[in-house]
Parts: sequence; C-alpha cells; structure tokens
Amino acid sequence: MTADPSAPAVVPVDPAAPDPATLARAADLLRRGRLVAFPTETVYGLGGHALDHEAVARIFAAKGRPAHNPLIVHVTSTAEARRLARQWPRDADRLAEAFWPGPVTLVVPRAPNLPDLVTAGLDAIAIRVPAHPVALALLAAAELPVAAPSANRSTRVSPTRAEHVAASLGDRVDLILDAGPTTVGIESTVLDLTGERPRILRPGMIGAEALAAVVGPVQRPDLDAIAAGTPRSSPGLDRRHYAPRARLSLAPSSDLAAEAARGMAEGLRVGALVHTPVALPPGVHVVRLADQAAGYARGLYDALHGFDADGCALVVVEALPDDAAWDGVRDRLARAAHRVDTP
Ligand code: TXA
Ligand code: MG
Repeated sequence: MTADPSAPAVVPVDPAAPDPATLARAADLLRRGRLVAFPTETVYGLGGHALDHEAVARIFAAKGRPAHNPLIVHVTSTAEARRLARQWPRDADRLAEAFWPGPVTLVVPRAPNLPDLVTAGLDAIAIRVPAHPVALALLAAAELPVAAPSANRSTRVSPTRAEHVAASLGDRVDLILDAGPTTVGIESTVLDLTGERPRILRPGMIGAEALAAVVGPVQRPDLDAIAAGTPRSSPGLDRRHYAPRARLSLAPSSDLAAEAARGMAEGLRVGALVHTPVALPPGVHVVRLADQAAGYARGLYDALHGFDADGCALVVVEALPDDAAWDGVRDRLARAAHRVDTP
C-alpha cells in the first residue's frame, strides 16, 4: 500500500497508559507551534500553543474559522488557569473546585500576555481543565496552555473519534492522537463569569441546576430563540453550527414515519434518529440512541457523521424530551437543523 501524502499521522494511544514517547513527540510539535489533535472527554480538540500567535493563527486557518470566534484554552490545573486571567472571581474557584477536570468552560477577564487572536479581541478568555487522561498527559508533557477548538472544519459536526478528525481536517493537522471514542459526546458547557451573575453561553451536559447548586442562580440560554433563528448572543454561537450535510427535520414520534416517507417519495436517501422504538419505512437508515440524555449525547455526533458518510440527504429526528437534562443535546440539534437558506 502506498501512503496517502494528504493523510495526517494518526497514532493510537492507550488512555490507561499513554506511551511517553508519543506524548513527547506531540508535546514537541506543540512547542514548535504545530497542531496536534487530541481526545478530551467531550470531543476531540485541535490543539496549538495558546501563547504563540502563529500557532493560534494556524488553528483558525486549519478550521476555516472566522476570526470573531474565540478559542478555549486548556490547562491542567486551576493554578495554571489563574495565570491566564486578570481577575479570578470567587465563583470561578467554586466552579473549578466542583467541576474540574471536567466539561465546564469558564469565561473570565483575560490576562494581558495572550495573543489577541485567542480571545478574538475580547477582554475575556475561556478556560477549562479537561477530564481525559490523554489530554492531561499531553498538557503536562508540553508544559503549555493549549488552545483547542473542536477538531473539525468550521460549522461542521464536532469529532468524537479520531477518524472524524482525519476525515474533516486531513493534512491540516500535524498529528492525531487516537484514544477511541469520547465519552461525553457534546462540547463543554460554557459559562460566562464576567457579568453580574453567571450566564450559560453554550449549554452542555453539566446543566444549569448543577451549576446553580455551586454558585446560585445562573442565567440559562434561550433555546427557543436559538431554534427560531435569533441572531447569536455571544461570539461564535452562530445559529447554524454543528451541522451535518443532510437536512435535519425534527418531528414528534407520531409524525416521523410520514416525514421519512415524504422524503423517500422525493427520491432522497433518508435517515432517522430516534430514541424510542418508532416504526419507519423500509430503506430508512435508522439510528436509535439511548433514551437518557447522557447516552444520547455520547452517540449523537457519531450518528450524524454516519448519516453523512451514508449519503443521507434528509434525517428525520424524533423530538426530544423537554426537561433540562436535555438542554445541551436540544441546543446542538436545533443548531444542526437550522437552515441558512430558509427564513
Ligand atoms: O468541549 C469543548 O469545549 C471542546 C473541547 C475540545 O474542549 N472545545 C470546543 O471549542 O468546543 P470550540 O472552539 O469549538 O467552542 C468554543 C466555544 C465557542 O462557543 C466560543 O464562542 C466560546 O467557546 N468562547 C471561547 N472564548 C470565549 C470568550 N472569550 N467569550 C465568550 N465565549 C467564548
Ligand atoms: Mg466547535
């Protein structure tokens, strides 16, 4: 077999015992301003040296990401996080204590020694300590804060497997550390601590209730406004985000089969994403996910990548329960379903 020159190096890493030589190689690339994709508990990240302007510029270029969308910086500890902040609110300490390492990103006033590009020129920086042994080992080996957006082309579905990263970014990344599928499955909860009260900018699997138990009432995002296509309220939260190529159509369980049949009658390859035993017409590519939010989130992006790989033009999605546990998942599906070409 001849090696594909456009294929990045994908190196398997055992999360229980990451190979020191592999970590050293990845850390060296990061220190030299190159890009390394690595697993976190949420999704794979596209990592670069957060204090190196050129490395950060490379991240934006590789993703095709607009410069107005700031990056999350990953560190190993609260002490390191504080060095990136000009001011460290008491709430940040409480939240870090409760949720780090873990899928919560804190937005705090930024320190002056950061490239403006990381924060997209904003006066605040987003920071988190990821709960993945490979991510933590890589950060420790590199001894650097690592800026890492999800390792996908801008506006596409985030990667939960190394294969998704390779398919989306190809040789735009210098190395991909493959530790298998991620466990949380959707991106971290982003919480803004720069205002009077904590505000959720992006919902995730750590929900408003869990956050409120630590810091008191938090402002929740308006998911109905997101679904209705209200313009973004915070940087980078574009309405159409996390989107597969297929058109997504959310419908109640009772309408799903008819929706799918309509698509097939138009000659479309149709997928269905369900979480209960719904009967669908033969020929529909059905993926059934868990009926609990955590399990559903874990499988969601892999399912969306699968529909794309299978050439589905339409995916009918069974409407989700409306309790708060599903906020993060509902947010991602609402964004994925939002069409730029419809009002
Ligand atoms: O789970 C995650 O958060 C993953 C993994 C790799 O850590 N990362 C991730 O990064 O999802 P990205 O770049 O795809 O999303 C970053 C989010 C965006 O919604 C962005 O607007 C927000 O964080 N963000 C970053 N910096 C910010 C800032 N200074 N102020 C407000 N929002 C910020
Ligand atoms: Mg992203």
